[in-house]
Amino acid sequence: MNLAIAENVSLKPFNTFGIDVKARYLLVVKDVTELPQALLWAKTNNQAVTVIGGGSNVVFTKDINGLVLVLQTQGIKIIEQQASVAIVEVAAGVVWHELVRWSVAQGLGGIENLSLIYGTVGAAPVQNIGAYGVEFKDVCHSVQALNRLTGELHTFTTEQCCFSYRDSLFKHQPEQWIITKVQIKLDYKAPIHIGYAALQQNLPEQIDQLTYAQVSDIVIKTRQQRLPDPKQLGNAGSFFKNPIVSLEKAEQLKQQYPDLVTYPYAIKQVKLAAGWLIDKAGLKGLQEGDIGTYPLQALVLVNYGNVSGKAVLAFAQKIQEIVKQKFDIELEPEPIVL
Ligand code: EPU
Repeated sequence: MNLAIAENVSLKPFNTFGIDVKARYLLVVKDVTELPQALLWAKTNNQAVTVIGGGSNVVFTKDINGLVLVLQTQGIKIIEQQASVAIVEVAAGVVWHELVRWSVAQGLGGIENLSLIYGTVGAAPVQNIGAYGVEFKDVCHSVQALNRLTGELHTFTTEQCCFSYRDSLFKHQPEQWIITKVQIKLDYKAPIHIGYAALQQNLPEQIDQLTYAQVSDIVIKTRQQRLPDPKQLGNAGSFFKNPIVSLEKAEQLKQQYPDLVTYPYAIKQVKLAAGWLIDKAGLKGLQEGDIGTYPLQALVLVNYGNVSGKAVLAFAQKIQEIVKQKFDIELEPEPIVL
């Protein structure tokens, strides 16, 4: 099979931040059998390999030498069903939100709260995507990945993926694994989760008979009210993780700022809202050249034109410094920097 490898291609359409860097070589992978061949090609031609899915959690700071693989493999199928539970196998290149809409159309629950998260299914386990009280790990059944070092396929159980808040084994070993498929566990009778504060304003009066499709619609509406559409304003979702601090630290801050937003995390730790911290530091809506914090959600950095990855990082660093000075808290960027 001949691989359709293109040369010197702009990656602007392949990252939601809309950063204009070039890939020396680029291959859009539509069929999983192309993967081993592409890796072999790269090895033979001495080219490094970078894999992206929807490009929604990445900041490109320079042209990418070597071969960029964009995974667009397709396929969603129910492979097992027992009582009300269905195991659904999904190819890595499926757009995550399309999977969500497919599931709610089937009457299957479990991922409706994860509506409108951009990116692909293969990227979902990497940072353990999450929203409104639900995380990918809650529905994960297994993850299949290609070991780039050995060329073998390996199946990880949920436990082996080492998921935690916006984190997994795959995030720490990007050179080793290419996620090719995931299996998720959905349920025709899954409980719905609509307790999250941000959803309340969009709930209808009658909430006892909500379908998964309706919950998905409510989540979509909530996100559209607060988060920019990357087709209109480039962005990578939340730019920083919500910081996890000790109970004492949170107590101390709470005395100074009674409206501090906290979420339970572990026995002696709480999660703070990074968006609140940035907002409270007076940085919401700040714009410098083509980069700024989104006026409706300070945690999202937006590209107002043709920003470079380096400018994004410089701006992010400035935010980190100001937040550190004001609250003595370190913000950690969420997207992967390439
Ligand atoms: N807040 C402010 N000012 C702001 C932004 C937020 O005061 O400018 C306050 C809000 O009022 C709220 C709290 O901070 O009390 C949290 O805000 P929000 O509910 O919007 O959620 P978040 O913590 O900023 C996280 C995820 C989002 C996810 C939402 C909803 C992270 C880093 N981000 O954001 O995920 O959609 O919760 O569950 O955990 C993403 O990861 O890219 C992402 C968008």
